[in-house]
Amino acid sequence: MKILGTGSSLPHKVVSNDDLSKIMDTSDEWISQRTGIKVRHVISDELLEDLACDAALKALSMAGKTPQDIEFFICSNVVNEYTTPSLSCIISSKIGLSCPCIDINCACPGFIFSLDVADSYYKAGKANNILIVCADEPTRMCDWNDRTTSVLFGDGAGAVVLGPGDNIKGIQLHSLPAPDKIWQHRLLESTPFITKSEMNVPLQMKGRDVFKFAVNASTADVESMLAKLGISKGEVSYYIVHQANMRIIDAIKNYLGEPDSKFPTNIADHGNSSSASCTILLDECNHNGMFKSGDLLVFSAFGAGLLSGVAVLEW
Ligand code: UT7
Repeated sequence: MKILGTGSSLPHKVVSNDDLSKIMDTSDEWISQRTGIKVRHVISDELLEDLACDAALKALSMAGKTPQDIEFFICSNVVNEYTTPSLSCIISSKIGLSCPCIDINCACPGFIFSLDVADSYYKAGKANNILIVCADEPTRMCDWNDRTTSVLFGDGAGAVVLGPGDNIKGIQLHSLPAPDKIWQHRLLESTPFITKSEMNVPLQMKGRDVFKFAVNASTADVESMLAKLGISKGEVSYYIVHQANMRIIDAIKNYLGEPDSKFPTNIADHGNSSSASCTILLDECNHNGMFKSGDLLVFSAFGAGLLSGVAVLEW
């Protein structure tokens, strides 16, 4: 497949580190030094599905496609206000899609997992024009009294329209099941028959374990994918890495021995927006005119599960 268009959409409310230091025991100094985050966009009066629709319509417009042209729609999402129907159905109804649609929950590497599903559908001859929307509101998963998690996240949506082409050179997905590293537990409706004890637990994270997994998984994914494709690092134009923490990105850069100039970032302005992160960064770079035809882009993302993935795409 080939990327024909990109789009993104962010909540209007921007929360700075200094704003956070007024509501919890934290500081701009701690957050900046430990994460590289300065501000993040946080949902206030918006609906996540409206951000997702906005991103999707922008990507369709850039691709020169209408909703009727789309034959398959994949929405990557961890949490939204609906349990059912799927977020992809809600977005479809708002923007006028009538093709089959699915939600996938693969946490932060959701874009790469979606890309793999899209590529497989295309190669199986099931769809030629595919829309991927990654929409996440991780700020709604945190306890805002918990400074160890709430300062890390931001909300948003990114979208990609894919059409026929052979620009996806390779995708590798990786799983290291460890559900205790990043998790949130939501209480379901009660019934007259429930006798087990149940709990509502906001987002919990073993930060240092996740940090190590992120660096190890990303460098191993990238090295093995490039080796498999016979592509040298010198041939890679840009690495679009999940924006979780600037120190994670720096460590990956150092292990790969690649220069700063190949790693565009927006972590300072957005924080970690889960699966939306790679697609928002891709759209921002695209709008800045960063990519030229033939550029090789390497996507790498990692997160809850634990899951990780890498994709190599020719622009
Ligand atoms: O998409 C994937 C999702 N997650 C990630 O990628 C996160 C990966 N992990 C990380 O990015 C880092 O582990 C964190 C940024 C979460 C934490 O950084 P750290 O260097 O591992 O810090 P730490 O958890 O070891 O905490 C160090 C200190 C602690 O104080 P003490 O025990 O040394 O007195 C914390 O209580 O920093 C304290 N601390 C804070 N202080 C001010 C933790 N959060 C904050 C805060 N403000 N927001």
